[in-house]
Order: sequence, then C-alpha cells, then structure tokens
Amino acid sequence: MPIQFQGRVAIVTGAGGGLGREHALALAARGAKVVVNDLAAADAVVEQIRAAGGQAIASAASVTNFDAVRAMVEQAMAAWGRVDILVNNAGVLRDKSFGKMDLADFSLVMDVHLMGAVHCCKAVWEIMRQQQFGRIVMTTSSSGLYGNFGQANYGAAKMALVGLMQTLAIEGEKAGIRVNSLAPTAHTQMTEGLMPEAVLQAFKPAAVTPGLLYLVSEDAPTRTILCAGAGTFERAYVTMTKGVHLGTGPDAAEQVAQAFEAISDRAHGEIVPSSGAAQTQNELARAARLG
Ligand SMILES: NC(=O)c1ccc[n+]([C@@H]2O[C@H](COP(=O)([O-])OP(=O)(O)OC[C@H]3O[C@@H](n4cnc5c(N)ncnc54)[C@H](O)[C@@H]3O)[C@@H](O)[C@H]2O)c1
Repeated sequence: MPIQFQGRVAIVTGAGGGLGREHALALAARGAKVVVNDLAAADAVVEQIRAAGGQAIASAASVTNFDAVRAMVEQAMAAWGRVDILVNNAGVLRDKSFGKMDLADFSLVMDVHLMGAVHCCKAVWEIMRQQQFGRIVMTTSSSGLYGNFGQANYGAAKMALVGLMQTLAIEGEKAGIRVNSLAPTAHTQMTEGLMPEAVLQAFKPAAVTPGLLYLVSEDAPTRTILCAGAGTFERAYVTMTKGVHLGTGPDAAEQVAQAFEAISDRAHGEIVPSSGAAQTQNELARAARLG
C-alpha cells in the first residue's frame, strides 16, 4: 500500500534546508499540507511545494521560543484546522571537546534540540489528543545513542530526545499518538566536510526520508528508534539484560565485580523493556525467588 498523507497536516521544523527540507517536500508530494519551519529559507521550500501543486505555509518561529512555536501551531490550525504530524528536526552544532566547551554552548544546543522539541510537542499535544491522532518524530543521532568525540552537548541533547520519546509514546498511546525517533546520516550543511567526496551522493538527505515517511504514516510503529543513511535502515534499542541477583550482603560490591560478565550477558534473557517499570519488576521477581 502506498503511504499517503491526504487530509493530514504536518509541521516540519528546521525545514529550510537539509533533511527537514527533504522531509517537507516528500510529505507534501504525498498529499500532506505542510508548515515549513525554519529561521530562514522556509519561503523557498514553500514556493517549491506550491509550484509542484502542493499546499504549504512558512513559519520563521525559532523552536527555542515557546510563544513563537504556539503561534506557528495556531497558524496551522487557522489555515487547516488540525495538526497530525510533527517532525522535530531543527538543530545546531557547537562541537568542542568537553574540557574546552563553554557551558553557554552546552545550553544553546540543549535549548534548540531538546527544549525546541519539547516546545513543539507541548504546543500540539492537546490538539493531537483531541483528534485522537498524532504522529511525532524526534530527530536523534548516533552521537547521542553511542557517543562521538567533541559532541557532549549534542549527544546529551539527542539522547534526551529518546527519553522524551519513551514517555510521550507511553502517555500518547491511548490517544492514538505515536512517537518515534529517527537517527539519520546525511550530507548536509551540518556535516559539510565530514564525509568523503566519493560517498556524498549516496548520503543525500532523500535517502533518509523514506524512514521518516514510515514513522509518521497511518501504520507507524511507536516508541522505536530507526536509523537511516544512504538507503540503509537499522533499528536501535534500549535494552536490559536479565541480570544476576546477588543480594545485599557486606561483600555485594565484590560480588558485582566478580559477576560483572554474567550481569552483562546479552545472550540469555535480554529484553527491550516496555516501560521503566520492567526493571523494578525484574528485580522484585528475582529477589522474591531467591530471597
Ligand atoms: N546530517 C546528519 O548526518 C545528521 C546526523 C544525525 C542527526 N542529524 C539531525 O538531523 C536534523 C537536521 O539536520 P541537517 O543535517 O539537515 O542540518 P541542517 O543544518 O541542514 O538543518 C537544520 C536546520 O535547522 C534550522 N534551525 C536551527 N535552529 C533553529 C531554531 N531555533 N528554530 C528553527 N529552526 C532552526 C537551521 O536553520 C537548519 O536549516 C538535526 O536535528 C540534526 O541534528 C543530522
């Protein structure tokens, strides 16, 4: 079944260029009405969508400004009466090794990525709840999931978005709101100079967008982390091993050291918890059985 967005209204932040632009164009090409948000350059993308026969409006709201974000959502509501899809994509980098990093640069990156997404989610949440339909995507990163030299601020913000997704997916479930994360790899102004020339074409932003389209579709999953780049799609998980019950004796610390390999064992009983309660339940069950 082709993925279509007729009748759906989407907001894509940071869509003046790079990945966001590609997402906005693809959503519009498949029938969505799109709010193209960016600090600048949103108008050109809107023009492109309209020239192709689609519907779009521009918003220059900074995602860091909650009032401006609310006004953007009101703009969408006034034009089209609903908001079905939110793609939190806006982002900046301020790379430096942690020792040399200013706290101001740490805060700025947290503000744009994390608080920017929080503002947008907050502004559409009640609308989506009342519609009993919503699709939200957080743009995370391998730098957050796995770390990357020089990106303590960016990595922390990107992993925080996964944390935001985990709980919003749980809280949104009954209201038909599905929340996912996308970890892209693409050649954009953000990654300028970081990729070898030979692979630039393969890493075009358009190679990531199919993953985004699935994550905001009718049949979207929820609470997933999809990785995408150069046409390859992977899935990342936050998992928990079965663990070892060691009790609370005076030598428990030494036992932890001794059992560390068994504690770390992924081959037997590792799970993807469906909520944070899974850890408590596992610990309770093991303590009850062995206590
Ligand atoms: N390119 C990659 O390989 C890669 C890898 C992992 C994650 N990401 C993430 O993907 C997203 C898109 O990045 P990109 O590579 O297309 O880079 P990009 O720089 O082309 O796009 C980011 C856009 O966000 C906009 N923006 C910045 N601050 C904003 C604000 N306060 N309000 C509204 N818009 C704002 C910028 O103007 C820019 O157009 C980002 O969240 C980025 O962290 C990209």
